[in-house]
Amino acid sequence: MTISRQDVTNHFALRAATYDRSSSWCTDTELGDVLLDMAAPKPGDRVLDVACGTGLVSRLFAGRVAEVVGVDVTEEMADQARPYLDRLVVTPAEHLPFADDEFDLVVCRQGVQFMDLPAAVEEMVRVVKPGGRVVIINLCAYDEQDRDEYFEILRLRNPVRRHFFLPSDLEELVRKAGCDPVETRPYVSVEDVDVWSDNGAIEEENREAIRAVYRGASPEFLALHAVREADGRFVDNMLFVLAAGTKPSAPRSGSEENHGASE
Ligand SMILES: C[S@@+](CC[C@H](N)C(=O)[O-])C[C@H]1O[C@@H](n2cnc3c(N)ncnc32)[C@H](O)[C@@H]1O
Repeated sequence: MTISRQDVTNHFALRAATYDRSSSWCTDTELGDVLLDMAAPKPGDRVLDVACGTGLVSRLFAGRVAEVVGVDVTEEMADQARPYLDRLVVTPAEHLPFADDEFDLVVCRQGVQFMDLPAAVEEMVRVVKPGGRVVIINLCAYDEQDRDEYFEILRLRNPVRRHFFLPSDLEELVRKAGCDPVETRPYVSVEDVDVWSDNGAIEEENREAIRAVYRGASPEFLALHAVREADGRFVDNMLFVLAAGTKPSAPRSGSEENHGASE
């Protein structure tokens, strides 16, 4: 099945009213602190939040930096981000309406899974300045052992997801788009699966299918996710990976190098 942009905006329009309560990671301040630590924003920075959604990431930067610009395709989500943004542009990440090297920092949490790849990440690297950073955060499977079951759970919970990642995929995405070095960090988020699956955009049938995957999960999946079960409810330790890449400074031209060498 091909997933269209309209499918994505329809899904998030349904979720907009309750999005901020749909996962514990949404408002997890510890995850926010890890993101800020990796992004290392400075007061004069211009920051671009790609797939800003309701502004949960934008608000981490608001007041800390000179400017926060948000980009998203779903008006119902992005309208809620306006109080934390200096500017909102409703547009797809694959064609950012910004000049090369415009931002000091680009962040994108739980967005790249819905985008054309690698085009969207290449755009993020294009608009960040040399020496600036691109930070991508996404849920990932731990490794090959939980991959198939976890990807199935993620697909059931959000049928408009187009990409599913292992930790090394995110690092590679940022590196291949032109960043070097790329630093990665894991972060584990504890989610009550019944709360997490009640996202306002999927039917009970999908939620029951998610429970069924947990009930029949392999020992490897249960161990990696440290799954706990009580009275038919499951708690999953879900893995986020944060990948922060630096856009290399432009190589100095030959004449600059010669000039420097003669001084
Ligand atoms: C899971 S939400 C993440 C929101 C926010 N970054 C956060 O961490 O809470 C995903 C967002 O990506 C947006 N989105 C999906 N595809 C997009 C695209 N191609 N370009 C821009 N935004 C997109 C959706 O509209 C939605 O608001």
